[in-house]
Amino acid sequence: MSDILTHAEAGVMTITLNRLDRKNSITAAMYGAMADALAAAEADTSIRVVVLQGHETVFSAGNDIGDFLNKPPAGMDSPVFRFLHGIAMFTKPLLAAVCGPAVGVGTTMLFHCDLVYAGDNAAFSMPFVNLGLCPEAASSLLVPQMLGYHRAAEALLLGEPFMAEAALEVGLVNRVVPPTEANGIAQAAARKLAAKPLSAMVETKRLMKKGQQQLVLQQMADEGKSFSRMLGEPAAKEAFGAFMEKRKPDFSKV
Ligand code: COA
Repeated sequence: MSDILTHAEAGVMTITLNRLDRKNSITAAMYGAMADALAAAEADTSIRVVVLQGHETVFSAGNDIGDFLNKPPAGMDSPVFRFLHGIAMFTKPLLAAVCGPAVGVGTTMLFHCDLVYAGDNAAFSMPFVNLGLCPEAASSLLVPQMLGYHRAAEALLLGEPFMAEAALEVGLVNRVVPPTEANGIAQAAARKLAAKPLSAMVETKRLMKKGQQQLVLQQMADEGKSFSRMLGEPAAKEAFGAFMEKRKPDFSKV
């Protein structure tokens, strides 16, 4: 079975992360498949809404660490950047259903979604600093905007998880629901949107986002350069080595 499933029905394309044995961590091939699905949804006039979802126990553990180290993203044409660009520029409504851990890009991708439904077991985290890295997906811009600077610093510098109720309070999610219902509730909202005039939704989204899109792209490019450089530096090497060896990292020398 594929690690990324796509299904189109009644004007809704659903993209499902389907790699449960690795906690839906995302490989370059998976980013590529999601970027292709988004491009297809953008071009297909019969698709009016896209839903991103995982499993009721886990949304995503973020980048697949082994794959990431073997195939670090090289430039803006790499699958991860194509995916990030795709969600940031997607013109039609983009929804997400999130349950369980949503680590790294599992959280940062949500800042580009229009509606987010969270299971009450959702745990959001952006532990880039703990990995010797910096934020991605324009989260260094979007997180302070949404959470306010001090809560953003807590999320991005301490990198500790915050739960669904806290995400609801800051406006990252629209509703907190039982995990077994999250995907269904997102589907119901998507069907409702799919019955509305697409041109009016696209124009409304364009107007809401237009002041921001250039900034988002610039921030992603800036983050991308730093992220790629930092991947080869001692702090990230220690963090990823520790993950692979299942030990605590020692940052005392970096
Ligand atoms: N990359 C690669 N493999 C991963 C992974 C990732 N991001 N996240 C989990 N896995 C693997 C684990 O190594 C484990 O493999 P094993 O069965 O061979 O030991 C398997 O998936 C199950 O993960 P496990 O940690 O046992 O599950 P859990 O339910 O206890 O915890 C998480 C789930 C998501 C909280 C935890 O796996 C985690 O913190 N993962 C790392 C997240 C991370 O740092 N992501 C940022 C990447 S930039």
